Amino acid sequence: MTLVVAIDGPSGSGKSSVSRAVARELGLAYLDTGAMYRAATWWCLHTGVALDDAVAVAAEVRRLPLAMGVDPSAPAVTVGGTDVSAEIRETRISEAVSKVATNLDVREELRLRQRAAIDAERGADGFAGGRGVVAEGRDITTVVAPDADVRVLLTASEEARLARRALDVHGTADATAVEATRDQVLRRDADDSTVVQFHVAADGVVTVDSSHLDFEQTVRAVLDVVAARA
Ligand code: C5P
Repeated sequence: MTLVVAIDGPSGSGKSSVSRAVARELGLAYLDTGAMYRAATWWCLHTGVALDDAVAVAAEVRRLPLAMGVDPSAPAVTVGGTDVSAEIRETRISEAVSKVATNLDVREELRLRQRAAIDAERGADGFAGGRGVVAEGRDITTVVAPDADVRVLLTASEEARLARRALDVHGTADATAVEATRDQVLRRDADDSTVVQFHVAADGVVTVDSSHLDFEQTVRAVLDVVAARA
């Protein structure tokens, strides 16, 4: 039997690294849906479409030649054959991504692609046998895969999320680094929250609060949820 594990959470909750570790541990594929929104943003900046032009942005994203790697150890993101895995993490993308992700036609296009990728990995009807998948993002437990076998909301206090992101981006979590991260993390969550709800667990979704857990403990907590539910 293949397994679909859906994990949502805000920025800095650690969901990408935790989801990858869970996928590795369980031998599942890994789908980073945030990377798809980042790749869509990269593409819009690359083609030069005005991000304020919602109709043109949606048309551009429908043309997006995106290939998502699903190996949890090296999930390469390629657009038109170019590996953009590193570039989509740049600040210019983080600052613009919410603008693209709050475009409802973009969301519909990417939701369909995410659903197709999940169905392919779980070996749904019409797809050759799959091995199952861990899919992570903001609306996987609620919109993209509400039928997932296991659904987790990974949360952490604001303080913990800011410290983690500061450590990731600046290599330190001192007061200056935390301040520099504050706008990016909190403003992005506020903007994203206007179209997706990822702060409160929906019915049937299990909350894992990682505020006081280290990385290994968080991975273990999610694996425990999988073991109990699957
Ligand atoms: O997870 P990550 O921080 O890389 O996500 C980047 C952005 O992609 C988020 O800030 C949000 O705008 C968007 N996103 C989304 N729905 C998802 C995953 C990500 O809107 N399922």
